Amino acid sequence: KKSEAWSALFSEPMSELVKRYTASVFFDKRLWQADIQGSLAHADMLAAQGIIGADDLAAIERGMAQIRQEIESGAFEWKLDLEDVHLNIEARLTQLVGDAGKRLHTGRSRNDQVATDVRLWLRGEIDLVVGLLGDLQRALLALAEKNADVILPGFTHLQVAQPVSFGHHMLAYVEMFSRDAERMQDARKRVNRLPLGAAALAGTSYPLDRARVAATLDMGGVCQNSLDAVSDRDFAIEFTSAATLAMVHISRFSEELVLWMSQAFGFIDIADRFCTGSSIMPQKKNPDVPELARGKTGRVVGHLMGLITLMKGQPLAYNKDNQEDKEPLFDTVDTLKDTLRIFAEMVGGITVKREAMERAARRGYATATDLADYLVKKGLPFRDAHEVVAHAVKTAIGQGVDLSELPLEALRQFNPQIGEDVYEVLSLRGSLNARNILGGTAPEQVRLQIGRHRARLG
Ligand code: ARG
Repeated sequence: KKSEAWSALFSEPMSELVKRYTASVFFDKRLWQADIQGSLAHADMLAAQGIIGADDLAAIERGMAQIRQEIESGAFEWKLDLEDVHLNIEARLTQLVGDAGKRLHTGRSRNDQVATDVRLWLRGEIDLVVGLLGDLQRALLALAEKNADVILPGFTHLQVAQPVSFGHHMLAYVEMFSRDAERMQDARKRVNRLPLGAAALAGTSYPLDRARVAATLDMGGVCQNSLDAVSDRDFAIEFTSAATLAMVHISRFSEELVLWMSQAFGFIDIADRFCTGSSIMPQKKNPDVPELARGKTGRVVGHLMGLITLMKGQPLAYNKDNQEDKEPLFDTVDTLKDTLRIFAEMVGGITVKREAMERAARRGYATATDLADYLVKKGLPFRDAHEVVAHAVKTAIGQGVDLSELPLEALRQFNPQIGEDVYEVLSLRGSLNARNILGGTAPEQVRLQIGRHRARLG
């Protein structure tokens, strides 16, 4: 039909340029399953309400079954002339079953149809993303458990601060990814509401049973305002925002992996299968995966900005602007899923170089705070203890040794209350074990947290 004019109202066919410009079928065809699912639920309700006949419903179901098969087998012919996924499927349906196909769109508009399709599709993708976030968390837990006793210099300002358990460091990311999953599940509640019944913008005069359609589609409720239902894409923005945060967490982790694998740190190795070489420098092994993930985070941040900007100037109700929601949303989903999948695998290919980490911790006077705390326990006010230890560190730096390598007499010159027991306090292990508080880095706490996370993830 559309290779001709749109309707009798039009006196000339659409320009070829405009056809290309307005068509979305080459990207929105990915919504085909949701489109068929939504149409079947709508048709079932139309028949139950006596708006179409039982024979029409049967014909629609038969036609859709064939279309499904054609799309799956690749036989379906997608036509640019038919603009989008909705018109392509509807036209084929009518070709296959005649008038029943023409009755499907009763009480419906592409405006509420597309909003429904995107929501149905996104709901399924959210479930996949939550599953992948779970896989990544499980992989991090395994790495954390294996390295609960490995000591990593903890940093602030990227300067050595205090010793932490490598497992504890991994658990920080588990916390982040668990919040990402929570955010996804929360957004899902608002994604999972039904626009159908809003029609073009004002609702419809047909006696539709919207609750029935929502129930058929396993949606949590119906959108309560027709103008809002067809026009807002905040649900997609919310998802993209949650996806952006997840990518930002991946990106922070990536940055650390890249640093840690550099020769200057030498803290970890990443299995060869996740790295690439250089076409000119034979010695190179590059952490391309985390670098790319860091880069792709920028892309997802861009999609979030794109979607928000897409929304901000739109008057109610539906505007064609909204067709532009799809590519950023689809690419966000693809990028996030691919990244989570590869990270869950790559984490299992991380080798921890415990000596290098411990050496770096010692070189950075990571237990200086422990010495200050030791003096506080002997009765010194903390600020005085802080100053005493600063002098001790200065001396140790001057001699090129660790605090724990200064003899007792030397340490006593800074404060006479220092005793033989200071050496346990100055050891990395002693420092680690001392932080045995909920949320702290002591290996005992790390193991408790691993247990808690495992129970949570089931
Ligand atoms: N392809 C359109 C979209 O993605 C479908 C809705 C079009 N509605 C309209 N009245 N032109 O938003």
